[in-house]
Amino acid sequence: RKSVVRITTGSQALDELLGGGIETLCITEAFGEFRSGKTQLAHTLCVSTQLPIHMHGGNGKVAYIDTEGTFRPERIVPIAERFGMDPNAVLDNIIYARAYTYEHQYNLLLGLAAKMAEEPFRLLIVDSVIALFRVDFSGRGELAERQQKLAQMLSRLTKIAEEFNVAVYITNQVIADPGGGMFITDPKKPAGGHVLAHAATIRLMLRKGKGEQRVCKIFDAPNLPEGEAVFQVTSGGIMD
Ligand code: GTP
Ligand code: MG
Repeated sequence: RKSVVRITTGSQALDELLGGGIETLCITEAFGEFRSGKTQLAHTLCVSTQLPIHMHGGNGKVAYIDTEGTFRPERIVPIAERFGMDPNAVLDNIIYARAYTYEHQYNLLLGLAAKMAEEPFRLLIVDSVIALFRVDFSGRGELAERQQKLAQMLSRLTKIAEEFNVAVYITNQVIADPGGGMFITDPKKPAGGHVLAHAATIRLMLRKGKGEQRVCKIFDAPNLPEGEAVFQVTSGGIMD
C-alpha cells in the first residue's frame, strides 16, 4: 500500500487550503485564464518536489511535458536558490519533453512511465494538457473523438499517479471575459468538458488579483475547505 505524499506549493496559504500541498496518487488540475499562474506553479513544483520530505517536498524527480513551449529552465534557478538548493542539480532532475501532437503527448507518457519504473519520480506535469487536443481536433464533427482520446490520456495519467505514487499536475486554460471577469466557458465544464472534470481529483480555480497576487479556490471538492488562498507570483516562484 502506497502512502500519500504532499508537496508544498511554496505558499503556506495555498498549502493549507490543499491540506498540506499537492498530493501524490491523484491528479491536480489547475484551470484559469492566461497569466493566472498555472505555469509558474508548475515551475515552483519542479523545485519543491525535490526537497526532502521533512521540508514538505517529495524527495523525487520531476517529469515535465510541455505542449506550448513555456517551460523556462532559467526560471528554475532563482526558485532553487530560494529553497536553498543547487540549481544545476535541480535542473538535472527535471526530465523535460516538448510534445507536438496529442499522439506524441500520449507516447511521451508511455516513455516516462517506463522511466518511472526505474527511477524515483514524485511529480508529473502536463502543461497544458488540452492545448494539442484543441489543435488536433479543431473540427466541429471531431468532438466525440477528441473526448475519447482525452479520456484515454487522463486514464493513463491516473494509472501513472497510482502505479508510481507520483503527483500529476495538469493545466487547463479557460477564457475569461475581458469585461466582467466571468468565465465564458461554464466553469463546471472547462475546455475538457466532463471528461477532464471526472479524472481530476482536485481542481484548482486560479484567478488574477492585484499586481502579482493570485487567488486560488478549490472547485467542487466536498472534503476540502471552501475558502480561498491568496499567493504571489515572484521570481522565487509561488509564495505567500
Ligand atoms: P497561460 O499559460 O497563458 O494560460 O497562463 P498561466 O496561467 O500559465 O500563467 P503563468 O503561470 O505563465 O503566469 C504568468 C505570470 O507570472 C505573469 O503575470 C508574469 O508576469 C508572472 N511572472 C513570470 N515570471 C515572473 C518572475 O520572474 N517574477 C515575477 N514577479 N513574476 C513573474
Ligand atoms: Mg501557462
